[in-house]
Amino acid sequence: MEASEAGTLKELLEVLGECTRCTLHKGRTKIVFGMGDENADLLFVGEAPGRAEDAQGLPFVGPAGRLLDELLTGIGLKREQVYIANVVKCRPPGNRDPLPNEMDTCNPFLLEQIRIIKPRILCALGRVAASVILDKNVQMNKVHGQRFPGPGYFFVPVFHPAAALRTPSTRGVLIEDFNRLKEYLEQDEQPPGPPAPEPEQMGLF
Ligand code: URA
Repeated sequence: MEASEAGTLKELLEVLGECTRCTLHKGRTKIVFGMGDENADLLFVGEAPGRAEDAQGLPFVGPAGRLLDELLTGIGLKREQVYIANVVKCRPPGNRDPLPNEMDTCNPFLLEQIRIIKPRILCALGRVAASVILDKNVQMNKVHGQRFPGPGYFFVPVFHPAAALRTPSTRGVLIEDFNRLKEYLEQDEQPPGPPAPEPEQMGLF
């Protein structure tokens, strides 16, 4: 089966298998595919697994994940009610940024996750995820918290929780942006575009 033929996340995970498509597999302990509700309205996309995620095979379970949980609690959500994925599914050595060829190799799996989950809102956590999804360099301080029409979903970029751990003033910005996310979810507006776009229609890659 091709990734594009997968009808469920379980099938997509089977296509991913014990992936060796890029060199990140050499240093990983566990693949971090994603977790949460397959039918979630809200999909978060982070950058890449870190040490804790690599050990457990789950996204955002380290210090940045604890802040993400707090931010979710602050808007009345649990992580089981959303879906959390990453641009790349394996930990880059020493937590470096994923390389372009690693992101390109993993992108089909992110796109198919988006196709299967069909979120109303896709929230990019941090500049790397936002830039991959928009296919252009994003300046987070200019766009964070805003809602942009995307193909089948609204796109909302926010700062990465790890940035708020490094720079305390970013925490307040993130709290405000999560409050906006809550409002966007409650507004019940239908996202623009086709509900299940093909990757090439998305103009992302
Ligand atoms: N940072 C990310 O971008 N993703 C994770 O899963 C954990 C930390």
